[in-house]
Amino acid sequence: MDNRPIGVFDSGLGGLTAVRRLIHEMPNENIIYFGDTGRVPYGNRSRETIFRYATQDVNFLRTFDLKAIVIACGTVSSIALQPLSQLHDLPIFGVVDPTARRAAQCTRNGRIGIIATEATIRTGAYEQTIRAENPAAELHSVPCPLFVPLVENGRTEPGDVVIETVVADYLQPLKEAGIDTLILGCTHYPLLSKVIGNFMGPEVRLLDSGAEAADQIGRWMASCNLRADPEQVGTCRWYVSDGTENFHHLGSIFLNREITEPVEQIAIENY
Ligand code: DGL
Repeated sequence: MDNRPIGVFDSGLGGLTAVRRLIHEMPNENIIYFGDTGRVPYGNRSRETIFRYATQDVNFLRTFDLKAIVIACGTVSSIALQPLSQLHDLPIFGVVDPTARRAAQCTRNGRIGIIATEATIRTGAYEQTIRAENPAAELHSVPCPLFVPLVENGRTEPGDVVIETVVADYLQPLKEAGIDTLILGCTHYPLLSKVIGNFMGPEVRLLDSGAEAADQIGRWMASCNLRADPEQVGTCRWYVSDGTENFHHLGSIFLNREITEPVEQIAIENY
């Protein structure tokens, strides 16, 4: 048993989709979340900048005594998981591997779509893992650079003509390709599940990368006997790098439950 918290971070609020699953499945775990809201989005930046930001994010989280870190960001996972894991002596989990493996296993017609930020798609990280599991899979990757800013601005619901237009524009080629499985390769995208699902149709299965990462760390904790005390009620501590005014409102939408705990702003450049 290990009651130390799990550290979770993202470029912004998207990583809360992983926290949502963690809280739902493992309500006894303590969580420390950092959202780099002052520097979001990461996905259109260079590898070097993303790595520098991710290093600071992990350094901040390491000021706490954690049992593990979840990189709840497709962009950072695809660029920095390996080097960060080598630099740090605690387990670090990303979203790419568990989600890609799930896609390789659950496709029925072998046609898989991958949507993510430009930086993630450039790395080919999802594609490599899927191919290692299922070499015959036909992969269709589409960067969706407008999704993160739209989601961070709350433009997520069916009936919003802006998001519906952008979704249709990005996803039309995937619809035409006849995919049956779509990786939401950025942790912001599950907020668009309804709009994306409406556009793609019920026969296309959407895979939530944050949820897959949460499930993976849950399996790992169970196998290593590192789950928190089942009697404990887990707590959450929230940190951001920009003003805190919008966090409670928008964060509650991402988390699908009201955030009542205080949120603190930190100077991430100092880490
Ligand atoms: N949630 C991040 C991801 O999963 C968004 C990246 C960004 O800030 O552009 O990739």
